[in-house]
Amino acid sequence: MVYIRLFIAPIFMLLTLSTHAFDRYTAHGGPIKGLAYSEASNLAVSASFDYTAVVWHADGMQELKRLVAHNAAVNAAAFSSDGQWLATGGDDFAIHLWSVDDLVNGSESIGSIPLTGHTAKIVHLEFSADGRTLLSSSWDHTVGIWDVESGQLIRQLKGHQGPVNAAVFATSGEQVYSAGADGHIRLWNLETGEYVRSLVRNGFGINVMDFDPVLDLLAYGGSNGVMGLVSLADRSRDLELWVGGPPVLAVSIDGASEKVAFGTAEGRVMIADTYVGDIEHDFTAVKGPVWAMSLLPNAEGLLFAGLDDWVTRIPLQDFKVPSRLPDRDRRFHPDEPIDNGQRQFARKCSVCHSLTASTERRAGPTLYGVFGRKVGAVAGYPYSPELKAMDLVWTEETIDALFRDGPDVVTPGSKMPIQRIKAQKDRDDLISYLKRATAPVTP
Ligand code: HEC
Repeated sequence: MVYIRLFIAPIFMLLTLSTHAFDRYTAHGGPIKGLAYSEASNLAVSASFDYTAVVWHADGMQELKRLVAHNAAVNAAAFSSDGQWLATGGDDFAIHLWSVDDLVNGSESIGSIPLTGHTAKIVHLEFSADGRTLLSSSWDHTVGIWDVESGQLIRQLKGHQGPVNAAVFATSGEQVYSAGADGHIRLWNLETGEYVRSLVRNGFGINVMDFDPVLDLLAYGGSNGVMGLVSLADRSRDLELWVGGPPVLAVSIDGASEKVAFGTAEGRVMIADTYVGDIEHDFTAVKGPVWAMSLLPNAEGLLFAGLDDWVTRIPLQDFKVPSRLPDRDRRFHPDEPIDNGQRQFARKCSVCHSLTASTERRAGPTLYGVFGRKVGAVAGYPYSPELKAMDLVWTEETIDALFRDGPDVVTPGSKMPIQRIKAQKDRDDLISYLKRATAPVTP
């Protein structure tokens, strides 16, 4: 039986709190879309809008490797539970498989195995318990089932009426649950690809889902703010912890501690006990969406990340919400008045391009000194081969053409997203701003 309990957050619980337990780490030049942790290797991974994933030693969050293979934002990452493989998936419709042994022992630039077959972005990845099969959830409305050994797409599960946002294996390993924007959690037979039935009908899109085999419990979050639990064995522990409010965009469940954590589009982090449904922590952690979270085993801690470029780690034992959260104003929203050209840059370019001489880890190369520069000339930036091969110099005219006709026309094959700026005045203002802001500083 499904029963609903609503808990009102104890808003005024911030009385005698002293610990500032928000440790923040970054290696990214863009918002973070995905996080995962591997108990077997004690590594964590963050997937970013800056087109890369970063692998971390989880103790102390030291950066181990920066993974450059995707041609667009990286949305999802997952480790196999045997600690052998890491998979990443992105807006470029591609999945890359990385050997964890190579990540730990290999040289700085390590290779990956690309898995291609989806026709829209990949938003969630999950390995089977034996690490031999990978599930990919895509906005092409399907779940891909991949043989890890051969890199072959075995079959696609087709039945969702819209994007698929997450898919997980049932405990037996013979069935798959998938959650979609059509509001359903659907059950499938892995072997035959046959659709069995709908398990949850939320009415609104289901954005995220996580599964814990120890508890045999699914946790999901939806566009209508629902934070729900489904116990697969006998449905005795089905629970809606919350309904209403901003969309839920992140979830993580930990069997050992029986805890579940959710994150919302407005930066709320909620941590609850899955057994009785008590909400243990409920606070606003960031100004902006929380897109990813991962509970560390035994609820030793929680990693979460989102619009700000940081991975935040908080301890959960004796955790108290600090009375003053770290200052985390959103980037690209300067308070002082700005002119139209600067506004164009802030809105349309700054998330991917910096303007300074130092190499910042953005999705695109720095635009410092761009006028008069040959295309593809920033040392150390991993340009696409198509862009590097072009014979073009950046001038007021060529940058104007880039956004009048679009990168797909001016720099075909490039990793730059297709974007046109229709109004001549906006392009003129942008270029006049760029001329000011990218001019090399003479010492
Ligand atoms: C989502 C990320 C993204 C956004 C937004 C974006 N770019 Fe880019 N841009 C890139 C990437 C990635 C490349 C490198 C393309 C390649 O290697 O194929 C690039 C390349 C360029 C280049 C060529 C640089 C060189 O060194 O040859 C210019 C110029 C440029 N962008 C200008 C802009 C401007 C101006 C805007 C805003 C109107 C913008 N970009 C918005 C990702 C972005």
